[in-house]
Amino acid sequence: MAGLCVRSVLVTGANRGLGLGFVQHFLKMPNPPQWIFAGCRDPKGQRSQELQNLASKHPNIIIIPLGRCPEVGILCPSSSGNVEGAAPLPCATSMCAPVPSVSSQAFLPLLKKAAQGSPGSGLSCSKAAIVNMSSYAGSIEDVYVWEFGQVVSYRCSKAALNMLTKCQSLAYKEHGILCVTFHPGWVQTDMGGGGSFKPPLTVDDSVQGMLKVLSSISEKDTGTFLDWEGKVLPW
Ligand SMILES: NC(=O)c1ccc[n+]([C@@H]2O[C@H](COP(=O)([O-])OP(=O)(O)OC[C@H]3O[C@@H](n4cnc5c(N)ncnc54)[C@H](OP(=O)(O)O)[C@@H]3O)[C@@H](O)[C@H]2O)c1
Repeated sequence: MAGLCVRSVLVTGANRGLGLGFVQHFLKMPNPPQWIFAGCRDPKGQRSQELQNLASKHPNIIIIPLGRCPEVGILCPSSSGNVEGAAPLPCATSMCAPVPSVSSQAFLPLLKKAAQGSPGSGLSCSKAAIVNMSSYAGSIEDVYVWEFGQVVSYRCSKAALNMLTKCQSLAYKEHGILCVTFHPGWVQTDMGGGGSFKPPLTVDDSVQGMLKVLSSISEKDTGTFLDWEGKVLPW
């Protein structure tokens, strides 16, 4: 993580799970970001209490309300979401395909500005980056852990998110913006821990791993699908 130098960052779904983990880890960096914009859909709600507590101690955290993403193609821990039931499922996630698309378009001018204002050539996460939180479940080639749960809507939304990342990487390369999509591992969050098995990874393990990967990736990695340890995953 030593190579990562972030001046400002927007984290979506920042009130719990992996999003909150990212906020906590950004704060612990040797050079924490000057601004951490922590987006969540209910900033004053009960589920944002931990984030509110953090923000009261760290003035570089700005909590911002971010709109609800449409409840299409999202994993519900208690539902297998099989093919017949491929209709919209209740949400339990911080990302769905339309939201990263709209938000990255909205923030494009700022991302471009950040890239232009950073020294050096090539792409890096210290310059300007879009990091989409996907899942190995969205791999069309592997259709990972199909036996454990079909979760068709979820898989489709993540496959779409992966395509979006690829398109973003092609469209934004010339503007100096690196784009990747991540599988965070199977993590002990409300979503990851919703079934009968305990996930092997803590939020800390996963976020630390992803930040380490983010600190090392460069132009050659833009438009790739990576896991929390930096392994390239099949589309
Ligand atoms: N945990 C895993 O094992 C795992 C594995 C693969 C991929 N992922 C991906 O990692 C990302 C984060 O998941 P997580 O495990 O951290 O989940 P989590 O702990 O359940 O947190 C979910 C977050 O998403 C927000 N959210 C839920 N529905 C939403 C909606 N309709 N519109 C806007 N925000 C919504 C929640 O906000 P509220 O508090 O307001 O509900 C919360 O901030 C997700 O994209 C997930 O697919 C997780």
